[in-house]
Order: sequence, then structure tokens, then C-alpha cells
Amino acid sequence: MNDKIDFDTNFDFDTMPDRRDAASSKWEKYGNRDIIPLWVADMDFRTAPCIIDTLSKRVQHGIFGYTQPPRELPGVITHALERDFDWRIDPDWLVWMPSLVVGLNVVSRAFANEGEEILTAVPIYPPFLSAPRNAGCVAVTAPLEQSDGRWVWDFDALEKSVTNKTRTLLLCSPHNPTGRVWTRDELQQLAAFCDRHDLVLVSDEIHSGLVLDRDKRHIPIASLGDVAGRTVTLLSASKTFNLPGLGCAFAIVSDERLRARIEKTMRGIVHHVGALGYFATMAAYRDGKPWQLALLDYLRGNRDLVETRIATMPGLRTWHVEATYLAWIDARALPVDNPVRFFEDAGIGLYDGTLFDAPGFLRLNFACPRSLLASALDRMQHAVAAL
Ligand SMILES: Cc1ncc(COP(=O)(O)O)c(C=O)c1O
Repeated sequence: MNDKIDFDTNFDFDTMPDRRDAASSKWEKYGNRDIIPLWVADMDFRTAPCIIDTLSKRVQHGIFGYTQPPRELPGVITHALERDFDWRIDPDWLVWMPSLVVGLNVVSRAFANEGEEILTAVPIYPPFLSAPRNAGCVAVTAPLEQSDGRWVWDFDALEKSVTNKTRTLLLCSPHNPTGRVWTRDELQQLAAFCDRHDLVLVSDEIHSGLVLDRDKRHIPIASLGDVAGRTVTLLSASKTFNLPGLGCAFAIVSDERLRARIEKTMRGIVHHVGALGYFATMAAYRDGKPWQLALLDYLRGNRDLVETRIATMPGLRTWHVEATYLAWIDARALPVDNPVRFFEDAGIGLYDGTLFDAPGFLRLNFACPRSLLASALDRMQHAVAAL
């Protein structure tokens, strides 16, 4: 297929417009305090020029009436999934929704009744814990474990966490916050586990476009065969292309009954996607590949800087980030009561591991101009050295 792609690869990730004028959640959090915000997962980069272009044209059109997915969009997505992951889907399997967090809350309600259990492994992106609770369900957690310097599944712990009330497994793939790209073998074991216990498998693959290691590939778990029949994959272009403010995501559900339950749960409650979200998503998947590749190069450089610098900071430990732009840091050896406050006082805003069910850990978002990241790391180094 002839992709219409933007061959200008001269993209600028070093210049950042002032985000304080743009009602940015990330930058507004600390008001006028001199704190470099490295917490919530969006990027301090302008999105791909092809997306800005498409949005400009849509804005110039000037009419923003009720909108349905553009006719070409399902085909653009199916092509992109085959191009990127060798995964063939049917456009009829798509269910549009305004965000993945909405998706996590919808599936929590769709596949478990109040009082039933939804399982996930920790540490984990906080809505994996809050969505089941919002639905009146019990969020059951099993720990991931560390082996040979990386985070892996503890399948014994997972097995022990299942009861006859467990209905759903929430999987984050690639994983926020540990940065793991799950291997085929790990995914096959998870698929077999869900089959054995008759669980619906919900796979949040929002970080799948952000695999940094050149020798690793994201494998959509639903591409592994029979497990597709019990899988809901949640996806969007918003993490890779920095579009979360535009509110466009989708579920991919091959099983008709699962899809019907999702649609029924959403009916009349979940708002449809807006016009700009659809058009940005279409431009991202159709034309955004050169920008994405340049982004990954830039993020690799930032990741290497974070890993090298944190290795020299006493009391902190981090892990190799295979995917995502998030570094997971163990600060439990730091002689401070509250590491988040300690670093905020030193001018760096990090995410609190407590929210991920991991007190004493921190998450650092390195998707910002390298000069800003270097300043943040300098601040961290001075703060730690002064203890
Ligand atoms: C694993 C994961 N899922 C979902 C989201 C949020 O997605 P959305 O903005 O579409 O709700 C994030 C954002 O960081 C994430 O890391």
C-alpha cells in the first residue's frame, strides 16, 4: 500500500512553546513554583506537522456539527495495525470512545458485577486500580517481581490471586510504569491463564507505539490466536503522538458478545468522540510514521541520559526502559520521609509511586526537550548529594 507520508524528517523536539498559556494540566499543577513538571504522561513536544496541518484544515472548515468517524478512518487503522504489528483486524471490531480511562471504567462495569473481582499486577498505572473500585468491584492485585534486573510476571502470585469471583484481568502492554515490553512467551502464559480461569482479558496497549529498544517488538495479545475471543484491546494514537487533549480512543473487540456488552454499558452515558480527535487520529496513523521514528530516536537519547544520570545518584535505583517515556525509580533507600515532597522542594515534580501501589517509588516522565531534562536531573543530583 502506498502510504502518503511526510518525508520531512527534520523535526524539532528541542523547542517547546510555553505550555502555561495553554491550560496544560502538567504545567499548571505547580502554579508559579519553580518546579520542572515530569509527572503526568504527556510530552512537551509539538505533535507531528502532518497532524497540525490536518487539524488546521479541519478548523478552517469552520463547522463543528455532530460528527461520526471519517469514512476512511477504520481502513487507516486496520492498515496501520497490520503495518506495525502484523495484526489483521476487521473494521467492524472497533468501538470508539473518548479515552482509555473511560475504556477501563467501561470494561470494569461491563464484565463484572458489583462485589466481583478484577485482577491486575502492581505496580500499575492508577486507573487500573480506581476503575474496578468505581464500578463497585474489588481490585485484586498480584505483585510483579524483579528478576535479573528487570520486572517480570510472578505467575504463582497471579494464580494465587484468582478466586471464583474473578471476572477480568487488566493488562498493561507495554507496561506503565516499569517500561517492559512483554515477550511472546509472557503473553502466551497470560493468555493461557485467562483461558484456564475463564477471564475477560483487557489489554491496554496505549504505549505500543513507544517501543524504544530496537531489538524488541510490541505483540498485541489479541494477535496470538484463540485468546482474541476473550480479549478487549484498548488503543489510541494519543500517547505516541501527544494528543490526549483531543479525546479519541477505541477498543478492538472481535467477539460480538463482548462488543455488545461494551456498547450497552456505554449507551447514553459515554460521549462520542469529537471531530478534531478523529481527524488527528487519522493523520497520525496514516501520515505520522516519519515523525514517530524521529520521536523514538529522541526519546532513546533522553532515556539513556536518565539511566546514566540516575545510576550515579546514591539512594536511587531505576530500570532499563524498553518502552514508554517513563522511568520507574526506587527511592526507598533515600533518607527522606516523603520523596515526592523532597524532590518538589528541590524543583522537580515527579509522580508518587503510592498511586501505583508502590510507596517509596517515583515515576519520571522524560518526554521533554533534552535541555529541560538535563536541568531536572542536575536538580535531582544536587538535592541527593546535599543529603
Ligand atoms: C497505560 C495507560 N492507559 C491509559 C492512559 C490514559 O489514556 P487516556 O488519556 O486515553 O485516558 C495512560 C496515560 O498515561 C496510560 O499510561
